[in-house]
Amino acid sequence: MTIQDFIPKAYTTVVESGSVTWESPSNIALVKYWGKKEHQIPANPSISFTLSGCKTKTTLSYSKKETSDDFSFDVFLDGEHKDSFKPKIETFFKRVEVYVPFVKDYHFKIETENTFPHSSGIASSASGMSALALCLMSIEMKLSDVIQSPSTPLRTGSTERVFNDDYFNQKASFLARLGSGSACRSIEGDIVGWGLHKDITGSSDLYGVKYPFEVHESFKNYQDTILLVDKGEKQVSSTVGHGLMHNHPFAEQRFDQAHKNLSMLINVFKEGNLDEFIKIVESEALTLHAMMMTSLPYFILMKPNTLEIINKIWAYRETSDSKLCFTLDAGANVHLLYPEKETEKVLEFIKNELVAHCQNGHYICDQIGFGARLIIN
Ligand code: DP6
Repeated sequence: MTIQDFIPKAYTTVVESGSVTWESPSNIALVKYWGKKEHQIPANPSISFTLSGCKTKTTLSYSKKETSDDFSFDVFLDGEHKDSFKPKIETFFKRVEVYVPFVKDYHFKIETENTFPHSSGIASSASGMSALALCLMSIEMKLSDVIQSPSTPLRTGSTERVFNDDYFNQKASFLARLGSGSACRSIEGDIVGWGLHKDITGSSDLYGVKYPFEVHESFKNYQDTILLVDKGEKQVSSTVGHGLMHNHPFAEQRFDQAHKNLSMLINVFKEGNLDEFIKIVESEALTLHAMMMTSLPYFILMKPNTLEIINKIWAYRETSDSKLCFTLDAGANVHLLYPEKETEKVLEFIKNELVAHCQNGHYICDQIGFGARLIIN
């Protein structure tokens, strides 16, 4: 697929108004996206587990306007006006306009809510932007006069070849990427790759693809418990963070490393080699932070409690046969990844040793999930 394939033909149906609701999850990267080119093209490929419980529900109501000269929308978070979200959404609309040209024809009411607390330090851009992109796709489908079959409803409700689930998901992911890069990995589950990679069939810089190869059953229902170390606003927005990879002294080596780590993960997924999984995932997390520490300006986004937790995880692994490991986003919170069969023991370990390092003792239990869901069409 190329960019041209996402520019629609003239719409065939007139729709005055309506409303659509999608629920879309967050995701946690194993190989990190850090650094991007123009038009939200990633500097290196990444791969993530789609989450299950951490998600955003968005209702997009639309009503036809008199004129189509500008964007017009209101945003609500948990029922309250949220004007601070508007600039990011305006930028998103500008970027997607050529692919969903109806965005200027309607006034939109965007009502959104997250299952995780807004002040948890968990980025809602992946789940939020993917939910919004999916809502736009549902509207596009209505404008495109798609025949719906009640007998074999697909996830999107579409049956036509031109608008089958693959195209719908690909374009939703393509649009979501233009809102926030990592959002393109939140449409499907349970493992999604984004960015051209020589060993991953169908991979693209333009959208995320469901991981196409064999995955060992050790990864089934893999757990992610998110330890909330610092619930404050992000010190560095990821957009600024990505910018720091331009002229970064280690950029080329880092991008090369991401390709290699992704190649290695293919075997790890196939064979269920959890020791190798741990090495790749923890090294990726620390490399992400190393990139931030070695850029100009430089940042330390880990907190003392982040390091306390990491050291305790390593000590725990030394004294047990646990395969518990950690990963980090561009912040201080720690994601604990572990096989489902270790759940009881790990939760005990968290309660006994790690909870003391969480802000107000807060953590969120989640696990690998299967992607976004249409709630109301
Ligand atoms: C560290 O997707 O938030 O979480 O494209 O600028 O919106 P923008 O960035 P964003 O970056 C996420 C960075 C990361 C790693 C990852 O999720 O791969």
